[in-house]
Amino acid sequence: MNLKLSDGDIRSWEEVQLRYNSALKQMNTKIEILNDEFKEIHRYNPIEHVKSRIKTPESIVKKLRRDGYESTLENMVNYVNDIAGIRIICSFTSDIYRIADMLASQQDIQVLTVKDYMMNPKKSGYRSYHMIVQIPVYFSDGLDEVKVEVQIRTVAMDFWASLEHKIQYKFEGQAPAHINAELFECARMVAELDAKMLSLNDEILEFSGLEERGA
Ligand code: GTP
Ligand code: MG
Repeated sequence: MNLKLSDGDIRSWEEVQLRYNSALKQMNTKIEILNDEFKEIHRYNPIEHVKSRIKTPESIVKKLRRDGYESTLENMVNYVNDIAGIRIICSFTSDIYRIADMLASQQDIQVLTVKDYMMNPKKSGYRSYHMIVQIPVYFSDGLDEVKVEVQIRTVAMDFWASLEHKIQYKFEGQAPAHINAELFECARMVAELDAKMLSLNDEILEFSGLEERGA
């Protein structure tokens, strides 16, 4: 296959943006199709909402510097895996793995790395499921493989992560110990809530199944 850009050929930030924006469009469409199909077959909507973003040049440069790389377009593309990011928010923890599997099994999606912070929460208490995937995007003169970071989490996990992020931002990552401890406790409560909501939902589904079968 004809690879359009060897990464060294990228000429401008505009070109980087075009490349990653196009990849986000493709991923968003894939996610929308899966959700539509699910609604049709199971009368159930696994995805609450989807957010996507391109990382700002400032935070790309900051990350490169943090990791000891020079700020070149080539290094951006090679070493920053989350220039394009998609966050999928769903209702139940079981939806997370379902969505991850549905995406990973698509032939043109290549999963480069997985970080399962549901099985292994971070020290902060952070929980979510992360994948770095690579998808082909076709341009006028050929194919380009583009990396996208996919974060999948429940509404409750998202609520926690937003507040925690806001607090860490305010304190520049040096929040007082008691706040970190409270946040960790909240993360534990979020996990408990997610588990309870899932088991309640399972019970309701079982009940509706019985009703439909006329029991
Ligand atoms: P970075 O190099 O900082 O992106 O970390 P990484 O490459 O080890 O990736 P990781 O999968 O750990 O985290 C990537 C993203 O997940 C971050 O940019 C955040 O959006 C989110 N994240 C990870 N840890 C936390 C956390 O403790 N709190 C919150 N609020 N978000 C987190
Ligand atoms: Mg990141």
